[in-house]
Amino acid sequence: MKVLVIGGGGREHALVWKLSQSPLVKKIYCAPGNPGMAALAECRPIAADDLNGLAGLAQKEKIDLTVVGPEVPLVMGIADLFTKKGLPVFGPEAGAALLEGSKAFSKKLMREKGIPTADFAVFNEAGSARNFIEACRDFPVVLKADGLAAGKGVLICHDRDQALRGVDSILADKTFGNAGNTLLIEQFIRGDELSLFVLTDGERYLMLPAAQDHKKIGEGDTGANTGGMGAYAPAPLGDRALLDKVATQVVEPTLEAMRAIGHPYRGLLYVGLIIREGKPFVLEYNCRFGDPETQAVLPLIEDDLAPVFMQIARGRLETERLKVSGRRAFDVVIASGGYPAGYTRGHVISGLDGLPEDILCFHAGTAIKQGQTVTAGGRVLNLVALDDTFSGAAKKAYAAIRGISFKDMYYRRDIGYKVLESGS
Ligand code: GLY
Repeated sequence: MKVLVIGGGGREHALVWKLSQSPLVKKIYCAPGNPGMAALAECRPIAADDLNGLAGLAQKEKIDLTVVGPEVPLVMGIADLFTKKGLPVFGPEAGAALLEGSKAFSKKLMREKGIPTADFAVFNEAGSARNFIEACRDFPVVLKADGLAAGKGVLICHDRDQALRGVDSILADKTFGNAGNTLLIEQFIRGDELSLFVLTDGERYLMLPAAQDHKKIGEGDTGANTGGMGAYAPAPLGDRALLDKVATQVVEPTLEAMRAIGHPYRGLLYVGLIIREGKPFVLEYNCRFGDPETQAVLPLIEDDLAPVFMQIARGRLETERLKVSGRRAFDVVIASGGYPAGYTRGHVISGLDGLPEDILCFHAGTAIKQGQTVTAGGRVLNLVALDDTFSGAAKKAYAAIRGISFKDMYYRRDIGYKVLESGS
């Protein structure tokens, strides 16, 4: 079969890498792709939000299956468009992608279904949100812009003044644009975050090994939020007992709720959880694979995912279980210095050809300039190592990083510190 992967980051490189191992997959196209993906696939310069351009490519190249990486085209309705044109697509239609596209929608659904999540209130204008904050007794509180804000629309406010400034910034100053037309104010739940990927046709589902990522730029999980600076899987926190609770308390009621409103969820549902005293609470849903967790999770899946994606695209998941490796996967993100704020691009990356054979290198923000691979984004590369232990995998990943260099290169040196300290 011919597969089209939409997107151009580390997540999509990992998807292409996994699909390229399938005996069923004869050719992979990417749009727009990146230089790492170009080694395995044919890249076309079509942006991930150019829905008509992508549909035209899929029709022209007679693509059998399109796998959508980022959330923006899904929320815009790429799955609806492809389905209308008879093009099989792995990813939820817009009505289901609302689980990520509108936090107010997903929180109300959780409340109605009794799915464990932080208490919240929804506001459309600054006055009533300010009054709510004035009456608040417990801080921190979490402010969330309702719509997609490229991972930036969440503020954790530690006191009343900070929260009042946050309300004005989102609802009055429109710091996050139209994504902040509606604001959610949520109770802050302390605990450990866990990312769970669920492959589903809307009814049947398969859960992948749980992962943990590090969203903060600084060591010790400090500083500004990023897309994610590293990840590891399977996260020991996501053991069988916990995943059973998540299945019955979260995954099944969520899928049932989406079926009930006439938008069965077909694709990859990413459940972002916070675990407190063994209890799962939903932080958020995403309608796509997580980045960088995917780069750690996919190397653990021993079975072919191409037929699974195809079954879901056709509306019926037949596969009942996936073979998962007993190994540990560890992903360190290498970023441009200054990220997630300003950074420069175009720096030559050296060392890519000398990486050890057992290291997976997934490109994120790279480009080719005058025949050389250069930096082209905030997150530049992911180095992924597998081993029988997390400490072994971490050692391999960090040893490999020493062979890579570019101007202003930055990475966190403490990825997985909790799991490493616990000796798992
Ligand atoms: N790693 C967080 C995300 O993909 O949203």
